[in-house]
Amino acid sequence: MSSNSATSQGLQVLGIAGSLRQGSYNRALLQAAQELVPEGMGIGVFDLSPIPFYNYDVEQEGDPEPVTALKEAIGAADAILIATPEYQRGIPGVLKNALDWAARPPRQSVMRGKPAAIMGASPGFTGTARAQTQLRQTLEYNRTYALLQPEVLIGGAGDKFRDGRLVDEETRTRVRELLAALADWTRLLQQGVAART
Ligand code: FNR
Repeated sequence: MSSNSATSQGLQVLGIAGSLRQGSYNRALLQAAQELVPEGMGIGVFDLSPIPFYNYDVEQEGDPEPVTALKEAIGAADAILIATPEYQRGIPGVLKNALDWAARPPRQSVMRGKPAAIMGASPGFTGTARAQTQLRQTLEYNRTYALLQPEVLIGGAGDKFRDGRLVDEETRTRVRELLAALADWTRLLQQGVAART
């Protein structure tokens, strides 16, 4: 469930981690982001555990409750922040599945026009680069506005997290920069929309 905590004047960001495991580096990365937010931003985290496998037949009967909750949380957020692991050089099924639900119905998807930022951590040296590339393609389909830079590719995660906490100072700075850029990006897009309406 969502636990957004931003003030009404601030930017509400919904964090989504593509890993369900307790000791996940990517869940820890979202926790670090919660600590490193710029002023006026709050990050709530949505747990993907209850999301069922996407099934068109089930969807026709009406979205399952966890899917409704996910869509509502994305819809209510000013932006989303995705922390993705890399599985077999791609997006983990858990995350892709959730994004498949959220992408529907295509023209009215809550993902459409939503500002987003991506980051990811893995023990390997490529730091989820390939998963992030795939994720960008997925977001393109949804017309989700994913921030291009800075990239946060955290390789060698075993050395950068300790006891479930991101401790590497350089990486913490990088996350701070990403969040500051996401704040600017979100406000820019919101101003653009406001100017057109
Ligand atoms: C992995 N892992 C992995 N890492 C990587 O850098 N590139 C890859 O292609 C893969 N492939 C892969 C497949 C499968 C099925 C598993 C289970 C794992 C390792 C992965 O990065 C590592 O388990 C991370 O710790 C997963 O992220 P969380 O759970 O720590 O957030």
